[in-house]
Amino acid sequence: MSAGIIDGKQVSQRILDQVKARVDARRTRALRPPGLAVIRVGEDAASKIYVRNKLRACERCGIESTVLEIPDTTTQAELLARIDDLNHSEIIDAILVQLPLPSHIDSDTVTDGIEPTKDVDGFHPCNVGRLMLGRTGLRPCTPRGVMTLLRHIGVTVTGMDAVVLGRSNIVGRPMALELMHAGATITVCHSRTRGLEDKVAAADLVVAALGKPRFVEGSWIKTGAIVVDVGITRLADGSLVGDVDFEPARRRAAWITPVPGGVGPMTVASLLENTLQAAELRETGATTP
Ligand code: GUN
Repeated sequence: MSAGIIDGKQVSQRILDQVKARVDARRTRALRPPGLAVIRVGEDAASKIYVRNKLRACERCGIESTVLEIPDTTTQAELLARIDDLNHSEIIDAILVQLPLPSHIDSDTVTDGIEPTKDVDGFHPCNVGRLMLGRTGLRPCTPRGVMTLLRHIGVTVTGMDAVVLGRSNIVGRPMALELMHAGATITVCHSRTRGLEDKVAAADLVVAALGKPRFVEGSWIKTGAIVVDVGITRLADGSLVGDVDFEPARRRAAWITPVPGGVGPMTVASLLENTLQAAELRETGATTP
């Protein structure tokens, strides 16, 4: 068996086209373009690349973006004051603080400081709670992008045994909730899990988000499973690899995402969908997402 490749780049382009069409349609109704503010603190090299990709995608879709590049000497209070300005801005619908933050800044406090209706990462406790309860809201971008990819390949998740590897607030936990709402039976595995290999081997769907290069061996994958690889690590030779050992896994899976070009572009596409959603939400005068 050789798996079908889930082309996240292609699907993300389609989503960006749809976002652009909706932004264009707003203009014909004399509505301003959605506004996204991205805050990057310090000099983290990966964050610079991620933020650049997000801004480029905004430009392509006609979303107004602003980036605040803040030195890592900034205090937490100064950062919170900048966020508060954005919370009150009439032209900013969406705020994203790129993580990780320098160690002297508490990321939970920063997340809590973002107005929930503008929280396009879906990390504010209000939005996490809404996701937990299965209510509408702004949902974390990477899990949202994974759900879009699964829909794209026509997979019905209902009734599947799904294994999520990783329990981070950014991917693992919200991913498990998304899949549970979609009707899958979820096992969340992490660094303390016993018998991880057997759990993966029993899964119809594996979502790997551990950040450990090629951790998941191809021989663990059940024949015909769907494999979604969220991990991305740059090796010493400069190559990018995921959490799954791609080639042997591909020989067993029915569908697999490549790294790069799988989940990564979908995170950006989902961010733009969320930004548009946040702009539309504010126009209804909603005070909760
Ligand atoms: N760092 C890695 N992934 C993300 C993300 O989805 N949002 C933010 N804000 N920072 C990140």
